Amino acid sequence: MSALSTYLATHQQRFRDELFEFLRIPSVSARSEHAADLQACAAWLRDKMQAAGLTTTIHETPGHPIVLGEWRGAGASAPTILVYGHYDVQPVEPLELWDSPPFEPEIRDGRIYARGSVDDKGQLYLHVKAIEAHLATAGRLPCNVIVLAEGEEEVGSDNLAAFVEAQAARLACDGVVISDSAMFAPGQPSILSSLRGLAYFQIDLEGPTVDLHSGSYGGAVVNPAMALARILATFHDADGRVAIPGFYDAVREWEPDVRAQIRTLPFDDAHFQAETGASALGGEAGWTTLERIWCRPTCEVNGLLSGYTGEGAKTVLPSRAMAKVSCRLVPDQAPGAIGDLMRRHVARVAPAGVRVTVTELHGGNPWRARLEGALFDAGRRALQRAYGKAPVIVGEGGSIPVVHDFARVLGAPVLLMGFGLPGENAHAPNEWMSEENYVKGTAAAAWLWEELGGGASGA
Ligand code: BES
Ligand code: MN
Ligand code: MN
Repeated sequence: MSALSTYLATHQQRFRDELFEFLRIPSVSARSEHAADLQACAAWLRDKMQAAGLTTTIHETPGHPIVLGEWRGAGASAPTILVYGHYDVQPVEPLELWDSPPFEPEIRDGRIYARGSVDDKGQLYLHVKAIEAHLATAGRLPCNVIVLAEGEEEVGSDNLAAFVEAQAARLACDGVVISDSAMFAPGQPSILSSLRGLAYFQIDLEGPTVDLHSGSYGGAVVNPAMALARILATFHDADGRVAIPGFYDAVREWEPDVRAQIRTLPFDDAHFQAETGASALGGEAGWTTLERIWCRPTCEVNGLLSGYTGEGAKTVLPSRAMAKVSCRLVPDQAPGAIGDLMRRHVARVAPAGVRVTVTELHGGNPWRARLEGALFDAGRRALQRAYGKAPVIVGEGGSIPVVHDFARVLGAPVLLMGFGLPGENAHAPNEWMSEENYVKGTAAAAWLWEELGGGASGA
């Protein structure tokens, strides 16, 4: 065993204990009452990154802080690699559906249960531990390293693009590594070839000034709930295609070989359906399930609010109605342009008698990978070593807005190697990360540096 392998094995328990500390900090970026927890979480991470051997700084933003760690000991002629992750987490509600409290990590059946375990604290922290292992055993890394951890990914990374632009010289690098996604199946390491983008809206309808008696007024006053239902019903045609005019105009066709490659992946619709608990799958005609998630844009209702929703009946004509709607985007759709189309469409189909406003909440650009180059090859070899199996190339339906900004501003290739698993409950109650993947992910992250430096020294 190499000194590096020995170090990883010897310190495995501590790496897990430290992750548990990280998971105990309730860094819910969406909730203002947690602002101090975000600060505490950033400070905790800074201390751990410093202890790992990185030179750290905290950068305040109008939102939550950015933590930066740097090690530039490889010299100006060596490549520089930036590792990105996020330390913020999603809200935990509904709390009653958790089998153990979200901020009291617990291992059951080889799974680390806690909010943020897989998204993204576990996947971020394993990189910090891999860097520590190199610096502790060899005193150096084959590349210069930047670790950038943000606290606003789950709320749209509003302040990160500006930071990347302002710090472009400092963040200049030859590649970006991100672990914030899932593997295709247990034991099957995976590299992402694409992410979808996002355009998120709130649609508000106002009708009468107050709720009205549905007997005294119903039938004579436009009902905002019904008006909203009619608007939403125009979003798709009978084939499941988005019917907002112009929606598909910027969509770049996928190469036939990408679609063919997706079809080689072992994927079972019935199993996928059973996992969701839904009684049928549905989506755009002419595309397989994986293509619908990875290759095609969507328009989905995320939430609805109107009228009386309490116990029993209340005869009322609501004064307001609201919907949260998000579009997942594929190259080369842009969130701003989709926002324009959405606003124009809603204004056109909105019935008279209601005031309608469309507010853009947040957005992110879609992204496609360059599946070649030194970083990609090193990632492939590192995953092969950690899992004893070659990685598969997979798409992804979720979004990581900053990936597009890294590619655009830094001009660097981005390697997305995730260590989550299907069914991990990210954003949901009982989020978990496989303990085995935390260990193997740490190893893969450690091997990545070796592979970037010209190969294994014998693991
Ligand atoms: N880690 C996810 C992105 C992701 C989702 C990767 C699913 C792989 C599978 C990230 O933390 C996330 O949740 N992104 C948001 C972006 C939004 C808040 C701007 C998303 O996709 O909804
Ligand atoms: Mn994430
Ligand atoms: Mn997330």
